Amino acid sequence: MKTSVAIYPGSFDPVTNGHLDLIERGEKMFDLLIVAVLRNAEKQPLFTVPERVEMLRETTKHLSSVEVEVFDGLLVDFARKRGAAVILRGIRAVSDYEYELQMALMNRKLEPRLETVFMIPGEPYSYLSAKLVREIAQFGAPLNGLVPPIVEERLRTKMS
Ligand code: PNS
Repeated sequence: MKTSVAIYPGSFDPVTNGHLDLIERGEKMFDLLIVAVLRNAEKQPLFTVPERVEMLRETTKHLSSVEVEVFDGLLVDFARKRGAAVILRGIRAVSDYEYELQMALMNRKLEPRLETVFMIPGEPYSYLSAKLVREIAQFGAPLNGLVPPIVEERLRTKMS
């Protein structure tokens, strides 16, 4: 069953194997899955938006129904512009739920026609986050299994 266009939004600083697991699951469900990188002036990211987009494009190039784009402003406005009916988000553990519920309900208030769909990433990624990956990379510990090789390489370069 496929239902048109979905958006998978996030910071992706950097893309992890957990994100990619979710993208691969989502790609099977929707005609088009737009991975949308937020250009957030408030946060202090490790990677620039173009760097994050490049890593996402490189690691999803085998998926024909996936596009990577940048957005700023409200997610619901971007979704309207791209004709998306679904926002895709991953929930790893109960601790994610409160934040995700708040966002999903706020987005529903702003645009009632937009549904948020939650998916659960594969078990090996249930404790994985981009924040932890950045921390581990900072101290030079191994990242195998956590991020794709190209991201590991970029992290090493960034940290050196
Ligand atoms: O990966 P993240 O950082 O948890 O993703 C958060 C993101 C990008 C999904 C969220 O911050 C977002 O949608 N920001 C856009 C601004 C917006 O629409 N805010 C209201 C949503 S409740």
